[in-house]
Amino acid sequence: MSEQRPTFEGEVFYPSAEVVAGARVKDWEALARRAANDLTGFWGAEAEELEWTRKWDKVLDDSDKPFFKWFAGGQTNIVQNCLDRHQRTWRKNKLSLVWVGEKGDVRTYSYFALNRDVSKFANVLKAMGVRRGDRVTIYMPRVPEIVIAMLASAKIGAVHSVVYGGFSVDALQGRIEDSESRVVITADGGFMNGKVVELKRTVDDAVRRCPTVETVIVVQRTGHEVKMEAGRDYWYHDLMKLPLASGHCPTEVMESTDPLYVLYTSGTTGKPKGIVHAHGGYMVGIYATLKYVFDVKDEDRYWCAADPGWVTGHSYIVYGPLLCGATTFMYEGAPTYPYPNRWWHLVEKYGLTILYTAPTAIRGLMRFGESWPNRHDLSTLRLLGSVGEPINPEAWKWYHRVIGKGRCPIMDTWWQTETGMFMITPVPTMPLKPGSATRPFFGQEAEILDDAGKPVPDGEEGYLVLKRPWPAMMSTIYKDPERMAKQYWSKYPGKYTAGDAAKRDKDGYFWVIGRTDDVIKVSGYRLGTAEIESALVSHPAVAEAAVIGLPHEVKGQAIHCYCLLRQGFKPSPELEDEVKQHVATHLGPIVRPEKVTFVDALPKTRSGKIMRRVLKARAQGLPEGDVSTLEE
Ligand code: WTA
Repeated sequence: MSEQRPTFEGEVFYPSAEVVAGARVKDWEALARRAANDLTGFWGAEAEELEWTRKWDKVLDDSDKPFFKWFAGGQTNIVQNCLDRHQRTWRKNKLSLVWVGEKGDVRTYSYFALNRDVSKFANVLKAMGVRRGDRVTIYMPRVPEIVIAMLASAKIGAVHSVVYGGFSVDALQGRIEDSESRVVITADGGFMNGKVVELKRTVDDAVRRCPTVETVIVVQRTGHEVKMEAGRDYWYHDLMKLPLASGHCPTEVMESTDPLYVLYTSGTTGKPKGIVHAHGGYMVGIYATLKYVFDVKDEDRYWCAADPGWVTGHSYIVYGPLLCGATTFMYEGAPTYPYPNRWWHLVEKYGLTILYTAPTAIRGLMRFGESWPNRHDLSTLRLLGSVGEPINPEAWKWYHRVIGKGRCPIMDTWWQTETGMFMITPVPTMPLKPGSATRPFFGQEAEILDDAGKPVPDGEEGYLVLKRPWPAMMSTIYKDPERMAKQYWSKYPGKYTAGDAAKRDKDGYFWVIGRTDDVIKVSGYRLGTAEIESALVSHPAVAEAAVIGLPHEVKGQAIHCYCLLRQGFKPSPELEDEVKQHVATHLGPIVRPEKVTFVDALPKTRSGKIMRRVLKARAQGLPEGDVSTLEE
């Protein structure tokens, strides 16, 4: 790797000789070329590194676009590759999971132990009547049992639907309803910031309105008093003691294209979309991306600080690391509890080597100053990562200098729930530019287009599209395949429209700017304005509402609401607080609005659609753009 690459413009961080010496991929350009020239050859070779009960007939069947079928005809189960195959090697005794609770309690699982508990719980689920193809909703804190529940569901061929524990009753209810789950797995509560998050109570409220649910399995985490409904609610620890919960359970053989999970994510309408990922392609995609991008090795202690309830957790806390046979680390609580050095203390104490987190966390910890990380030995770290939103160069450089001590390359990975795996991302030996996710992953090609579908010149903003299929691509939207075809593949036929605005520079590096639709990213969490608006209008005082995201120093974006009051209600600071609390109660504390403004009118098109773009421009004192369709 030449250190002086005169063609790269802007601020560039070249990989050190040490990074290059230790890297799996030294010549990324050669590999990129090879994958570009032979997409199916590249992915076929990756798939060969994993176990299949029956080999695929075809790496990629694209006869029914955009419903691409990867490894069609192949049979496997992602759990066979996450757990079963490691039992036959020395990795059986390797740590699979190291978990630390907010209070400092520690639990560790070897690959053997994790496999045993997953098998036990798989037998429990079977005894509860869960069959292949059934959906199981998981609503849990960050404890090992969430990993066990996901894997147990996959092992028996069921389809898990994890709902992030920071969501509240309406969000949970909508997701249970859409998935028609008969079983919900939860906990009495979780610890966050020294407080108990009442998960069971939220489940009780949601389930009351969901007639499909027959069984609720409750993990005891906090030990506080919760209501257990006879005949419906069971303690996890009681079930795991039953003779039927044996440590042996065959792993269901799945078709490559059979669904592994559904994960609800916000879109342009109020109804979240159930993004479906399948066993085979998804498995190969996340295995290869984690291997190449975070260069995971047996010596590593890898920490993805996300929550398993989001796609980042699905792909890169739970499945990816286990596919790679890695040791994965998980921490239950808040980064600042009890002090802002908690994360750095964890890195030192557990000798963590890879840290993958979101820009909002970095900005949040940056505020407390360098003295907190500087009190700790962070020398075990060798790679850092970022995900969820664009990282501002200032935060990138702080992360690089203060946490990585200038030694650790930062993998800024751009991807989505829908893509399942990293799409635009560096590998450790690539020259890095702060704020750019660099280039498409091996085999992928991206492009920036204008409204008419013409590529915009380098340096100009446009719509980000992906040109080639990839194995972890979503297989469908649950119960609504048409919506997938329409939403992602119709704007530019044959190309995947990501919903993001971006630029490309002269070096072919991509700079993601943000969403072009009604999705906002708050602290990296993906939220839909429509879902928030519907929570707002469920408040008795609110007649109409519009929600936009505005820049926020730490959160990236914050939720700003504009509400039209019903007759008889007057604006007041008390009402503003009440409305904010209403949203938090219904959707979750992470969805609490930053600001609620009461207005007399909302800007609308003549056909009655709220023009959020205009609200956004006004709030920021920017030109309103084309307002020719604006109603008088
Ligand atoms: C944004 C999260 C810039 C983007 C994995 C995308 C990013 C949305 C990055 C998907 C990044 C994610 N740089 N923006 N490295 N990573 N995004 O589905 O707007 O929660 O469309 O998946 O997050 O959010 P999701």
